Amino acid sequence: MKVLLKLGGTLLDDPASRNSLALQISAALRLASIVVVHGGGKQMTRFLSERGVESRFVGGLRVTTPEVVDAVLKVFAGSVNKQLVGALRAAGAPAAGLSGIDGGLAVAEQMNPDLGAVGRIVRADARVLDALLSGGFLPVVACVAGGDSGSDAVFNVNADQMAVACAAAWKADRLLFLTDVPGVKGVDGAVLPRLTPAAARELIRSGVATGGMQAKLESACAALAAGVGEVRIAPGAEPGILDRLLREEACGTALVQDEAAE
Ligand SMILES: Nc1ncnc2c1ncn2[C@@H]1O[C@H](COP(=O)(O)OP(=O)(O)OP(=O)(O)O)[C@@H](O)[C@H]1O
Ligand SMILES: [Mg+2]
Repeated sequence: MKVLLKLGGTLLDDPASRNSLALQISAALRLASIVVVHGGGKQMTRFLSERGVESRFVGGLRVTTPEVVDAVLKVFAGSVNKQLVGALRAAGAPAAGLSGIDGGLAVAEQMNPDLGAVGRIVRADARVLDALLSGGFLPVVACVAGGDSGSDAVFNVNADQMAVACAAAWKADRLLFLTDVPGVKGVDGAVLPRLTPAAARELIRSGVATGGMQAKLESACAALAAGVGEVRIAPGAEPGILDRLLREEACGTALVQDEAAE
């Protein structure tokens, strides 16, 4: 079974949470072939604010000026990626970190001039993932993409979109988004166990799903459309969550095709 595991930045900020996830992932390598994609939104906001740069978001996406691009490399592909790789290796997992630039994993183009260097991934090539996996390594991907051939551009890509592109290119069976909330909350604040793309779009339209969750739901719908068999948004802070998910215990929110809805 091929599992694309997306880890939200908040889960990786605190060493105890990061180390717990690293131990769980290390143990899970016995059950599944795994590729990790991670975010780092919280770390990026802190890095920028320490330097007097305010973070601005549009539709859950970070407006990426040239100084933010430099921070994207330093924070996502640098400190957050290497701290996670270090924690995984300490937990016994043969982790190797890379970004979407490496090996041409993810090629992007500018999404919208108002957002600066935010990229929309136009092509993903999983060969570098397969090469690492066949060499016995666990790939750990930071959410940075390169430009098209002949370009040395660097794009900030929402980590959920990076996870979808990697899941589709690598032909993952399952895409698990581990985040800092128990799942997708509906209008009454309760977690929705199942959600169709139509219902997800309605949550966004009505302003119930906002910010990072808006971006996540749009990505989750794209993953279903790309043919990923199971797409789930689950609480990364819950003890033993990965083992429970790999044993197919229902947890968090599953995105399901419209036809499968009640
Ligand atoms: N309806 C909703 N249900 C649950 N969370 C929601 C909802 N609407 C907005 N949110 C927010 O979405 C956040 C999750 O998205 P966020 O982008 O912050 O995390 P992430 O994607 O896991 O991390 P990263 O962006 O670092 O990869 C939650 O912390 C919550 O504040
Ligand atoms: Mg996010």
